[in-house]
Amino acid sequence: MDRKEFLTTVGKGSIVVCTACFLASCGYDSGGNPAAPQAPQGVDFTLDLTQSANQSLKNVGGFLVKSGVIVARISSTDFSAVSAACTHEGFTLVYEQASARFHCNNHGSNFSSDGKVINGPAAQALTKYKTTLEGNNLRVFS
Ligand code: FES
Repeated sequence: MDRKEFLTTVGKGSIVVCTACFLASCGYDSGGNPAAPQAPQGVDFTLDLTQSANQSLKNVGGFLVKSGVIVARISSTDFSAVSAACTHEGFTLVYEQASARFHCNNHGSNFSSDGKVINGPAAQALTKYKTTLEGNNLRVFS
């Protein structure tokens, strides 16, 4: 290998390494795709369903977003709580009762009520949280 070949090879390698570092520091994975946002950790909050801010959860199909978690009433007795940020590019999800799924209006990803991917472009499931209802108090926790 002569000097010119050596410098060309090293230069190409440096460009690949620098591009990977740049993408990682900007929230992209090494393939140039947006990195999935981090789901909230250590979640533990309680929603008083008698308060006006939580009234949407009184009706089946109602939902709200609190502390990075989307909470939906999926039946008269059941709730679902999952990370609110779409795992594709972080857009905040909505709950669609008619199809019983979480939907992203940004690029159309859909997730089941337990957070599994129904269709992309999102490829990673949402983080699911536990819920318990005691009286009018709905606890959401990891
Ligand atoms: S940000 Fe949700 S599908 Fe792209």
